[in-house]
Amino acid sequence: MEKLSLSTANLELVPPAPADVAAVYAGCQDPETQNWVPIPVPYTHADALEYVTTHTDTTWANDTEYTWSIRSEGTFAGVVGLYRVGNGSADLGFWMDPAFRGKGLLTEACGAVIDFALAQAPAGLGVVRIGWNAYAGNFGSARVAQKLGFRFEGTARLGASLRGELRDDWGGSLLASDDRSAQTWPILD
Ligand SMILES: CC(C)(COP(=O)(O)OP(=O)(O)OC[C@H]1O[C@@H](n2cnc3c(N)ncnc32)[C@H](O)[C@@H]1OP(=O)(O)O)[C@@H](O)C(=O)NCCC(=O)NCCS
Repeated sequence: MEKLSLSTANLELVPPAPADVAAVYAGCQDPETQNWVPIPVPYTHADALEYVTTHTDTTWANDTEYTWSIRSEGTFAGVVGLYRVGNGSADLGFWMDPAFRGKGLLTEACGAVIDFALAQAPAGLGVVRIGWNAYAGNFGSARVAQKLGFRFEGTARLGASLRGELRDDWGGSLLASDDRSAQTWPILD
């Protein structure tokens, strides 16, 4: 698919571009991001450049991942994307620069991405399932998914790896037929 942008009341979601290299590099130095997102560590400028150029160009072109830089008042704030796209489903993933966390912006950005994923073609992808996963213990990520209407599905014991180390993995999903109101999750208050 051709790269496309999305927007919300407060944000622009634009495909990552070379102008984002410094901000992606800086955001990926954050220990929280490194602890919860399977990025290379140490994370180098070369990793950021490869991500915003080759990786992004390839995954948009071969329809396996659609990712966006989140821009708040023109400034890079984080990344949100749809991963493992295919067979009528896609997985939601995200990270925010620490300076932009806790403002509700990531939840707002995810809302636009979910709208796009669920909308019928040609406006959207028309997927019937959006998956969410996080290493067990990532309560911030869980709270975002819970607020967006995802249903908690359980813990896959040692079900995911982080740089070669197996970790318990939380999973959830939102179906096209689900209402998108916040749900009760057993792992959250
Ligand atoms: C997870 C993350 C993306 C959330 O971004 P954010 O900007 O804080 O998201 P929002 O402001 O839209 O919403 C966060 C919600 O989670 C809650 N939250 C944040 N950290 C939390 C924690 N440790 N425990 C419980 N709730 C938490 C916030 O209070 C907020 O809920 P509220 O609106 O009811 O107050 C961000 O913390 C991050 O980038 N973390 C590191 C990378 C990461 O974990 N990515 C996800 C991998 S699955």
